[in-house]
Amino acid sequence: MNNEKKFRIGVLGSGKGSNFVAIADACAQGKIPAEIAVVISDVAEAGILARARERGLRAEFISPGKFRTKLDDDAERAFIDTLQNAKVDLIVLAGFMRILKGEFLRVFANRVINIHPSLLPAFPGLESWKQALDYGVKFTGCTVHFVDQGVDTGPIIAQQTVPVLAGDTPESLHVRIQKAEWELFPEAVGALARGEVQVQGRQTIWKPAQA
Ligand code: GRF
Repeated sequence: MNNEKKFRIGVLGSGKGSNFVAIADACAQGKIPAEIAVVISDVAEAGILARARERGLRAEFISPGKFRTKLDDDAERAFIDTLQNAKVDLIVLAGFMRILKGEFLRVFANRVINIHPSLLPAFPGLESWKQALDYGVKFTGCTVHFVDQGVDTGPIIAQQTVPVLAGDTPESLHVRIQKAEWELFPEAVGALARGEVQVQGRQTIWKPAQA
């Protein structure tokens, strides 16, 4: 019998939860050696909470408080307490639409990752697929990165490119990027759960675990 403690993931999201589904399914299929300990949303009716409950996972709404783009102090404390009580090893931001800073990142230093729908450092911020289309790039993509005090600035873990095609609309490009996200994010989370990713300054080094 394997008595090793399973790697525990906390997921934060505000939207429909398609990246969460890709990660949860990869855990269920054993492609990621981890379990989802808790899913938290700042939006009571977010699809991500429904998708988690359908899978029998712990899913909680926590009110974000009085601000629009960040958590207020009470909400930040409630998020931290819930994640600590769930004993998470890694926090995955899967479409979480609030900026996390200060105390949260101090408590979970180097343990918070995010997926962003562009090849960072190009097109940080909102609607990156639209920014890419407006700029006229021929390739864009998605990036999994550690979260630091900046916006979309932390060390890059993995990236996948996506072509911009003639006739693309913001919507068609966004759909193509999301399909890439559903491949890249579970792959990166799996590598982290297996302890294959190390951070040294801005560099992340992937070292496959010994067979
Ligand atoms: C993703 O496209 C991700 O890049 C961005 O938020 C979106 C979340 O979508 N950070 P979903 O809720 O996972 O479907």
